Amino acid sequence: MYSNKIDGPRRGRSFDSIHKSYEDKQLNNEMSRSTFHKLDENKDKFVPSKREHAAIIFSLKNEIGGLLKALKLFQENQVNLLHIESRKSKRRNSELEVFVDCDSDQEKLKEIIQLLRKQTHVVTMDLPDASFCVPEDDLTEVPWFPKKISDLDKSANRVLMYGSELDADHPGFKDNVYRKRRKYFADLAMSYKHGEPIPRVEYTEEEIKTWSVVFRELNKLYPTHACKEYLRNLPLLSQHCGYREDNIPQLEDVSRFLRERTGFTIRPVAGYLSPRDFLAGLAFRVFHCTQYVRHSSDPLYTPEPDTCHELLGHVPLLAEPSFAQFSQELGLASLGASDDAVQKLATCYFFTVEFGLCKQEGGLRAYGAGLLSSISELKHALSGRAKTLPFDPKVTCKQECLITTFQDVYFISESFEEAKVRMREFAKTIKRPFSVRYNAYTQSVTVLKDMPSISTVVEELRHELDIVGDALYRLNKHLGV
Ligand SMILES: [Fe+2]
Repeated sequence: MYSNKIDGPRRGRSFDSIHKSYEDKQLNNEMSRSTFHKLDENKDKFVPSKREHAAIIFSLKNEIGGLLKALKLFQENQVNLLHIESRKSKRRNSELEVFVDCDSDQEKLKEIIQLLRKQTHVVTMDLPDASFCVPEDDLTEVPWFPKKISDLDKSANRVLMYGSELDADHPGFKDNVYRKRRKYFADLAMSYKHGEPIPRVEYTEEEIKTWSVVFRELNKLYPTHACKEYLRNLPLLSQHCGYREDNIPQLEDVSRFLRERTGFTIRPVAGYLSPRDFLAGLAFRVFHCTQYVRHSSDPLYTPEPDTCHELLGHVPLLAEPSFAQFSQELGLASLGASDDAVQKLATCYFFTVEFGLCKQEGGLRAYGAGLLSSISELKHALSGRAKTLPFDPKVTCKQECLITTFQDVYFISESFEEAKVRMREFAKTIKRPFSVRYNAYTQSVTVLKDMPSISTVVEELRHELDIVGDALYRLNKHLGV
């Protein structure tokens, strides 16, 4: 039976669900004591003034029911518990030390401290200093990263390869007409600013012919090779964005469609960006897309991403909410990370978003854009002859990315959800003196480096949980529970 009363713990487990395990197992978790001071020694200094987040440590005799009795004090005084850890006291073997992270208004916190002191041997606590923030010295080494979506204007033109110039081994290197056309596309991308509509392009007959070959041949493979999410979204793109054999879709139409589906938008780009700049776009649900078409001499080959690759490889999955979330989290993890960490994230991106496989329909299917836009490699990856490994970011991030040949190995995810969970765990290992949170209302990134910014997030989460609680209450009421 559900109650929408949420005076008790709102995050983590409730007392009822945790006390038994703590009583029984006496967890040996480590607790950091470095920022705590003894209340007994500082009685007069504890002058709570407003609703606070507090960390308290108390120790009690290792007797049956002792922990439950202490925790009930929190429940009876309506102090929210956010986190609990326990371990055997190093000073007194027969005692259990308990760390609780809680929040409430000042008066209740004061009361709970007094009550705990009557029942427990030692009480230490810490009320974080509201003015505490990550020291500036710790931030000086952090590389610049965009904080709001329009900041992408500063990084989107830092193209590493090609752009309007072509390498000597590019199929269009000796084709002056093609090179002039590429300059046209490069100029369009370079002059683009956030918020503007993406310029519509009148594609030439030759470009449409090239697209037609790619579109036709790949569509023969999709029903048996593409993942179900891809197959679900492709018809929608035909319906809403003009995906047809005789038509190259316009990026502006695609961007509008994606915005409605997942909040992703497209930004035109002249060529390759650095991994850092590319991943930063994903943090804002912005996908940097090329608008030019590969050289017509070999429609089934391109040495670089072109609009066929973007439109057929990436876009159908960017319309999938779980995949969009996975992509954004990769981007958020990269903001302000070291070069080494960004490289690891970029490698994980490469072997998932570009060359990922997943288990579906009792077999393997492709969800990586590099596969879904390459006939020969799509066939190869699912031929049964290619080497495959489970996607594990710790392993995957060390794999060499091959650009001009098939990959030596492809990584398999059970689902996007599973890939997301694994990437989240991996992202936690990345050293960064702060966390970031995306604000979809302002399309900006909040750097969580001080208590006020963290408190704001907590308040927002409370509001979200209130909505969930209210929805469940109404549902239960409707069901007569
Ligand atoms: Fe790509």
